Amino acid sequence: MKRRNFFKLAGGGFAGIFSLPKFKNLPALLPRVNGHIDPSDEKFWSLIRDQFPLTTERTYLNTGGLGASPYVCIDAVKSKMDELEKICEPGHNHQLWHDIKEKAAAIFHCETDEMAYTRNTTEGVNIVCNGFPFEKGDEVITSTHEHVGNTISWLARQKRDGIKMKVFVPSMTSAQENIDRIEKLINKRTKAISISHVTTASGQVMPVKKIGELAKAYNLWYFIDGAQSPGMLPVDVHETGCHAYATSGHKWLIGPKGTGLIYVRKEYLDLIDAKFVGAYSNEGHFDMRTGEFHINSTAQRYEYGTVNVPLFVGLGAAMDFLLKIGIDNIWKRDHAMAAAFIDGLNRIGAQVLSPQHPAEHSAMITFKLKNIEYGELQKFLAEKYNLRTRGIYEGGLNGIRISFHLYNSFNEVEKVLHAVKAAQKL
Ligand SMILES: Cc1ncc(COP(=O)(O)O)c(C=O)c1O
Repeated sequence: MKRRNFFKLAGGGFAGIFSLPKFKNLPALLPRVNGHIDPSDEKFWSLIRDQFPLTTERTYLNTGGLGASPYVCIDAVKSKMDELEKICEPGHNHQLWHDIKEKAAAIFHCETDEMAYTRNTTEGVNIVCNGFPFEKGDEVITSTHEHVGNTISWLARQKRDGIKMKVFVPSMTSAQENIDRIEKLINKRTKAISISHVTTASGQVMPVKKIGELAKAYNLWYFIDGAQSPGMLPVDVHETGCHAYATSGHKWLIGPKGTGLIYVRKEYLDLIDAKFVGAYSNEGHFDMRTGEFHINSTAQRYEYGTVNVPLFVGLGAAMDFLLKIGIDNIWKRDHAMAAAFIDGLNRIGAQVLSPQHPAEHSAMITFKLKNIEYGELQKFLAEKYNLRTRGIYEGGLNGIRISFHLYNSFNEVEKVLHAVKAAQKL
């Protein structure tokens, strides 16, 4: 029976009971959430786990690919969709847009007017890469560990407009070494740096603030691919000194699939030219006869045309959920699970490909085994142990990446280690 029909039949009295599992103990938990949550408080975190419909039939370890959404997010999408479909309206209104961006700005630590909605990180990368006024021969520094989403747009621009991409191979042992490697590539043709905050390949946390200082010292444009960071760890975009920062709503922000956010610092809105524009990119009067139009004075200029409003309402609910728990609390929990996983991998003699220093590893850990090729290992973990992992070919690492987010547990850390141990015997 469809849930809505059930509600109708049962009447209002049952509604609260029926919806109990969804928000089970969240309101009761919230007073505790205002402060510090012990990362190893399994009771608390298992109640958080209850807020997700994510199946327990397999162990989900791929938040770096897609984040699972909680009931509050899914319900917000559904009810907005129900509301809008009844009247067939787009639902786009200034106040709603602003209210959701306020939550994003609280996570990014920036101004609401510096945020725009996108469909994914890749769209944000494209806005920035194609918006910078590069000239032929300008050089852009990046790493060999970037995701395809932060690679193809730059390579296309290299082919089309003659910019030159310069790459460094990230060091896994020293943040300073990475800064040195970037600095060595800088010359008088260097125009920009494009780097992931947390790399997709190894989950390495890049020293984005120090790189920002370097960019400033050499007067370079600075873009951060933040697909893997907001929602996982505290982000302060102003502190990084970057010109722009893009993320996905559907990874660590646990929002609906097909949502994203881009931050462009106020001072650089005119530098990063909005190439795709239309309804919502402008403000005030426009006239084809006179050529008059006014580009939006905020980052809203990067949005254009009709979008799926319910999805962004869902993203707002997901961000609200994360903010209520506290990004610091989530980061400590996620990081502690990853640290325990690194310890376990070292204990059993697996090769950890991610940085091991606590300041440089994130909640995603990549590893490999000597006795089995990574594709085979991924298959073994899926088929024999029901683990959803991600194979990592990026940067030639040929390893397996495990992501830990707020719905994972220390039990699951042990479960993966147990499975890896079994794979060592193959
Ligand atoms: C670092 C990085 N950048 C970009 C992307 C692309 O994200 P999206 O598919 O949301 O555009 C990913 C996805 O895994 C990623 O890890």
